[in-house]
Amino acid sequence: MSSRPFSPLWNSLALDRTATRSLQDQIVDYFRAAVLEGRLKAGTRVPSSRALAADHGVARITAVQAYERLVAEGYLASRPGSGLFVAESQGDPPAKPAAAIRRSRNRFRAPTLKRPLPTMAMLPRPDERLPLATGIPALDQFPWRDWARITARIHRERPLDALGHGDPQGERELREAIAQYLGAARGITCAAEQILVVAGSQQGIDLAARALARHGDAIWTEEPGYPVGRAALQAAALERIPVPVDAEGIDVAAGVKRAPTARLALVTPSHHYPLGFTMSLRRRLALLDWAERADAWVLEDDYDGEYRYGGRPLAPLYALDRGHRVLYLGTFSKVLAPGLRLGYLVVPAGAVDAFAALKAASDRHAPSLTQRVLARFIGEGRLAAHLRRMRGLYVRRRRALLDALEREAAGLLQASDAPEAGLHLVARLAVRADDVAASRLALEKRVYAAALSTYYAGPKRARGFVLGFANTREDAMAPAVRRLVEAIREARRPGLGDERAMQGNSATWRRGA
Ligand SMILES: Cc1ncc(COP(=O)(O)O)c(C=O)c1O
Repeated sequence: MSSRPFSPLWNSLALDRTATRSLQDQIVDYFRAAVLEGRLKAGTRVPSSRALAADHGVARITAVQAYERLVAEGYLASRPGSGLFVAESQGDPPAKPAAAIRRSRNRFRAPTLKRPLPTMAMLPRPDERLPLATGIPALDQFPWRDWARITARIHRERPLDALGHGDPQGERELREAIAQYLGAARGITCAAEQILVVAGSQQGIDLAARALARHGDAIWTEEPGYPVGRAALQAAALERIPVPVDAEGIDVAAGVKRAPTARLALVTPSHHYPLGFTMSLRRRLALLDWAERADAWVLEDDYDGEYRYGGRPLAPLYALDRGHRVLYLGTFSKVLAPGLRLGYLVVPAGAVDAFAALKAASDRHAPSLTQRVLARFIGEGRLAAHLRRMRGLYVRRRRALLDALEREAAGLLQASDAPEAGLHLVARLAVRADDVAASRLALEKRVYAAALSTYYAGPKRARGFVLGFANTREDAMAPAVRRLVEAIREARRPGLGDERAMQGNSATWRRGA
């Protein structure tokens, strides 16, 4: 019998001297459970009866008799001269508890939710190692040198206050840096006091949903729209109302028709996700007008507004809002890296306390040291410099993807004519094919091509792909598109496509969606 190192686990044995169960019984119960649940593995040496008795303040005879019972029951075995061990025959945790855990998980359903939450299979995580992965900035260009220099400097300063609990609203230094950055980069005037540092846009959506709406309230979401954002609204037990999007952005009149008294609209005015259109001024004014009249809020998700490569950009909706109906949501996921999990909300001054309280109740605050590194990174002008460099790179990568689509996928895929912006573009299917099946086949060929139809909540869905170009090298574009084309061809087996769906596809696209 091989011997595992001595386990410190038995230290967690806590004896209750007020219990009716004897101390000997409690010791036996503890070891039985630890062995059965796999916390004590076969071959693990247990402490001697003398050590057990001394450490837990019980009579030696109590420990000896408890061990004798465990040996008799087959949980422990003795090895002459070496002491007592967990018996081999007990093996690893028995199948029953594991099966019970699986069963209980299958039954799980949050009691407040009408519909079950989408599973991770329905909310895929773009694999950043694969070409064309959506929404990922150029991770190989992360400014490690500056980040490491600033981190090292802060660590040398040993800021004790960054090791304790911080401000739920976020580090003051970072909020000031964000307020300045927003003024310079996005034309937004706001005070550091209005900013709440959050764990990426995702937490911003979650907090806004819970702060501004109640269970069952109607919320407008863009159709098609951001599935992960939709999931946050659903997790907050809100009633999502999909409102169609065309080349001018969300169709406000359609929203008013479907749910005039909705509490909140989640929108992407600068660069609609995923279709890429910019919301027209007319629609912006209509949306603000509705929010005023309906006493509703607008959550502006400006996830990649920094990237505009041509045409005239429009200022964020927030800058147009005079009635303080718009909450602005920004993220460092697209300008630096999603793994940082840092973003920010700009909220009306009167709402700051409520948001900070929710943030504190959820996870207290964002990690202080990372916030300080980011604050100095912005303050020293490194973010602006990084963005300048990335814009140049993304223009080239976007061009390379468009060229590859034109050369390799002519007649199969048609790139959208949305403004030149962001980190992705949409290519619609010009032939009959199931984009979900093609996306799956592409994944097998090591290409990430998100199926456009999965961005819709309702039954009417255009088919195509949402292709990221920012994290894909120019020379990798054509080979990736070739593999996607192979996947589409394989997916075009009879029965996979559907004539009516394709007709719907062209009609939707003619309307600009
Ligand atoms: C529409 C939209 N909003 C926000 C984000 C960023 O999310 P987060 O800040 O939670 O990483 C993404 C990322 O893909 C997105 O597509």
